[in-house]
Amino acid sequence: MLRILKWVAYGLAGLASVLVVAVGVAFAASEWTIRRPVPKPAVRLAAAADPGAVARGLRVATVAGCAQCHGANYQGRMFDDIPGVVKAYAPNLTRVVARDSDADLDRAIRHGVGSDGRALWIMPSATFAHLTDAETADLLAYLRTFPPAGPEQPRLGVGPLGRIAVVTGQFKSEAAVMAAHENPPLPDLGPQYAQGRSVARACVECHGPALRGGGPLHTPDLTIAAAYDLPDFARLMRTGVAAGDRHVGMMSDTAKVRFAVFSDAEVAALHGYLKARADLEVKGAATKPLPKS
Ligand code: HEC
Ligand code: HEC
Repeated sequence: MLRILKWVAYGLAGLASVLVVAVGVAFAASEWTIRRPVPKPAVRLAAAADPGAVARGLRVATVAGCAQCHGANYQGRMFDDIPGVVKAYAPNLTRVVARDSDADLDRAIRHGVGSDGRALWIMPSATFAHLTDAETADLLAYLRTFPPAGPEQPRLGVGPLGRIAVVTGQFKSEAAVMAAHENPPLPDLGPQYAQGRSVARACVECHGPALRGGGPLHTPDLTIAAAYDLPDFARLMRTGVAAGDRHVGMMSDTAKVRFAVFSDAEVAALHGYLKARADLEVKGAATKPLPKS
């Protein structure tokens, strides 16, 4: 009996050491994926020097929501803490812009590669990849108006569950998202919808690259916008109040701070684009057989 117990104990000890090694290997693999340097894309951006650049850049930053994560004064902050998954610190941009060249900043913002050559995580570069050169130059002119101030922020912390997601490929760096072409441009519905399509880039961060919704925030498909008439849609964009006088969580908070700067023409163009897109989606669905349940 005692002998058997001894063998069981040996067996368990062996299993435990295999587990320790497996956890170590998984940790090392995730650490390698998170920290390894990636190729630095070549970028070329002409600085914006005209007097209107800073004001236009403020608008780009407002619509893109840079301050939502990097803080109202751009000194960085811890903006999300999901225990075991991630502790998300956004860096102090006032110190980043004092340190980095325009090319470094462009690589971070539109290509998802930090100035130290690491791929960036959670920073929505795959969305910002669709900013134009002019918008990016204006954005940099605006960010460079902030003198360096405040402490450096810690690096992004990734917990065990986050690391499992990294190793299994469910949680990807922005550079990896772009390398896999998972951030295609929005559907082009013709020249009459070009302005609306351009404004709709601001919705991609949460409603997804094709505006189909889902993702970690469980956002709705933006076909829902077709159910809005223009006055109700404009009210949602300006005040965050949804149809039926509802407060709709993060959407309401986001609209008030980011989308209230849209002009009447932009709101109307966005609404027109979303309606045209919804018509196409509905037509597409009508010609497809219903999925078997
Ligand atoms: C959803 C939150 C979020 C938003 C929105 C966001 N950022 Fe970031 N940003 C981050 C995080 C997190 C990091 C650090 C990522 C890392 O270390 O892997 C980061 C990193 C950066 C860096 C890289 C710094 C370096 O070390 O090279 C720059 C530059 C930057 N952000 C600028 C911006 C600008 C400009 C905007 C708006 C257009 C913006 N960010 C919007 C979260 C965000
Ligand atoms: C920062 C994330 C974020 C961004 C950016 C964002 N949304 Fe949303 N949106 C949400 C979330 C989350 C919901 C679901 C809210 C709920 O039902 O609690 C939502 C819901 C909506 C709804 C449905 C409201 C209803 O009637 O229930 C509409 C319409 C909408 N968004 C339009 C837009 C448009 C247009 C844009 C771009 C200009 C946009 N959103 C950008 C997060 C976002």
